[in-house]
Amino acid sequence: MVKVKPSDKFPGVYFVELEGGQVRPATVNLAPGVKVYGENLIVVGGVEYRVWDPFRSKLAASILKGLESLPIKPGLKVLYLGVASGTTASHVSDIVGPEGFVYGVEFAPRVMREFISRVCEHRSNVAPILADARMPALYSALVQEVDVIYQDVAQPDQGKILVDNARMFLARGGWTMLAVKARSVNVAKEPSEVYRREVATLREGGLRIEQVIHLEPYDVDHAMIIARYE
Ligand SMILES: C[S@@+](CC[C@H](N)C(=O)[O-])C[C@H]1O[C@@H](n2cnc3c(N)ncnc32)[C@H](O)[C@@H]1O
Repeated sequence: MVKVKPSDKFPGVYFVELEGGQVRPATVNLAPGVKVYGENLIVVGGVEYRVWDPFRSKLAASILKGLESLPIKPGLKVLYLGVASGTTASHVSDIVGPEGFVYGVEFAPRVMREFISRVCEHRSNVAPILADARMPALYSALVQEVDVIYQDVAQPDQGKILVDNARMFLARGGWTMLAVKARSVNVAKEPSEVYRREVATLREGGLRIEQVIHLEPYDVDHAMIIARYE
């Protein structure tokens, strides 16, 4: 018998105890019956939950690795850079719910098509934006001010991309979550040095670092940097 309980720290997030005792985060499916990436759907008490895989989503990994506060909450607007086919963005859509909104930016047309068919066609709180996150001015007419920017682009200039988008779209006091892939920044440097450099880029851009989470064993050489726009 599967047990589900709401997280007392993160509104919109639940914890599922699977048979065998393993605990996984989960979200309430905003598109009942629809799977996005082969995740397990479970129905408890008439509510359908999507079990959230920390090996497929750095946000789920962050939750399991000691995230202190989840900036993504019901009703908020989120700009998601590097949305890919929507694995993590679909859970973000579940969490912000019908009163919130997710702008999903992706520059690869093939994965954007998957994002549209797997996620956007089933959810009215998600908009696809085919664009390069390095050029936020090109999609500024499509995006309103947001409460949170979540970024996972795996690019060498990832810190600068986040700062440029924050300046254009993020509300003062808003939050950012940056998934840093150390090897994308500089293949020759040690991950910890790479994280320090990205932290410095964010600070210079006016972001106050709140937490840095190393995502092993779910993602090797990845960290999540959580910051606030001052
Ligand atoms: C690691 S994947 C994202 C996975 C996704 N965040 C998830 O958890 O479901 C990185 C994605 O960022 C996209 N990307 C990389 N650079 C980009 C850029 N400059 N603008 C927009 N998308 C970009 C890639 O095409 C790729 O789909």
